[in-house]
Amino acid sequence: MDEVRIGIIGSGVMGQAHMQSIKKTKRARLAAVCDMNGEAVKKLSEEHDVKGFTDANEMFKSGMIDAVMIATPHYSHTPLAVAAFDAKIHVLCEKPIAVHKADAEIMIEAHRKHPELKFAAMFNCRNLSPFKKLKKIIDSGEAGKIQRVNWIITTWFRSQAYYNSGSWRATWKGEGGGVLLNQCPHQLDLFQWLFGMPEKVQAFCGIGKYHNIEVEDEVTAFMEFKNGSTGIFITSTGEAPGTNRLEVTCERGRIVLENNKIIFDRTLESVPAFIKTAKTAFETPETWKVEVPVPEDTGSMHQLIIENFVNSIIDGSPLTAPGEEGIKSVELGNAMLYSAMKKIPVEMPLDGTAYKNFLQSLVDNSTFVKAAPVAAANDDFTKSFAQK
Ligand SMILES: NC(=O)c1ccc[n+]([C@@H]2O[C@H](COP(=O)([O-])OP(=O)(O)OC[C@H]3O[C@@H](n4cnc5c(N)ncnc54)[C@H](O)[C@@H]3O)[C@@H](O)[C@H]2O)c1
Repeated sequence: MDEVRIGIIGSGVMGQAHMQSIKKTKRARLAAVCDMNGEAVKKLSEEHDVKGFTDANEMFKSGMIDAVMIATPHYSHTPLAVAAFDAKIHVLCEKPIAVHKADAEIMIEAHRKHPELKFAAMFNCRNLSPFKKLKKIIDSGEAGKIQRVNWIITTWFRSQAYYNSGSWRATWKGEGGGVLLNQCPHQLDLFQWLFGMPEKVQAFCGIGKYHNIEVEDEVTAFMEFKNGSTGIFITSTGEAPGTNRLEVTCERGRIVLENNKIIFDRTLESVPAFIKTAKTAFETPETWKVEVPVPEDTGSMHQLIIENFVNSIIDGSPLTAPGEEGIKSVELGNAMLYSAMKKIPVEMPLDGTAYKNFLQSLVDNSTFVKAAPVAAANDDFTKSFAQK
């Protein structure tokens, strides 16, 4: 194969941005578009001069595509990915790969039956240079053991108009959660990619605290890791200007990633060793401030994921974000919501079935009435994603 024919399911904000990205990707061809909205399909299939489908299964059976990008609301990711694997189609799925852990397991199991197919997740933030550099520092052991991680990521401000822009948004039935399911899958993925999974999670959530929604728009989570490290994760869609500061305290000092800069305040010796050997009461370890060089990012991080997916299909090269790893951010987000709403600490691994049943009870007992969708808001979002 020297070209991958890609079909896209979902022609909304992200699907339209991906159509443009595919056109810029070498050895990739936009071969078909699919959306349950017939009018949208007609318009986009004419615009891109490709076949349009309103039924994903018809597209899978058409013989017109080798791979599919799933850019539909989260609940549909699982059935669509399973059907694609069954039809022997490679899958690149938007984040979150699923709404809950049990669904993510179903996708992984469907892929396990077809190891010849690629399963990738759209974790475009893994391509950002500051995070790649931070991972390099941590994995090298240069900073020593991590003692504490503190990530405040409150730059996800969203207005009520955003939540009103789609009927599925910010409901238990339509989306299965709020900031943890929609905006933060990126940071939850980076969190586990950099620091691994915690063994205990305790969280507090604001449910519709800043918006007229029935899901969480503010989260404060505490985590404990097996090796004694601790983590704090704070997010919100209701504050401005917001903060995006990732602070990692290690045996050899403190690393702060903020404003795309990495500052490593590096101690000349190990802090735990200094605690034991210092001769006077108020001595502190000598520290050198290092600004770690980070290359400037250009182009679209989404497009890099598509390029990597295509290369992996044609050349067998490794995926930047294998779909299987998508279960971890889903599990972290689920554990935070479960802990907050049940008011209990959650031991990991999370019981996926218990969480699924709990979420279903929220759907069944919902009395929330959603405002009518305002479609115009989507145009701005698509443009902004296409430029990134
Ligand atoms: N990676 C990123 O940076 C990023 C950014 C935004 C959104 N997303 C993700 O993309 C996904 C879609 O979000 P969006 O904002 O584009 O949503 P959207 O509401 O703008 O578009 C969704 C589209 O999917 C269609 N659709 C729904 N179910 C379908 C089905 N079963 N078959 C065919 N079409 C179907 C709808 O008609 C709609 O056109 C979400 O999972 C979201 O988390 C990712």
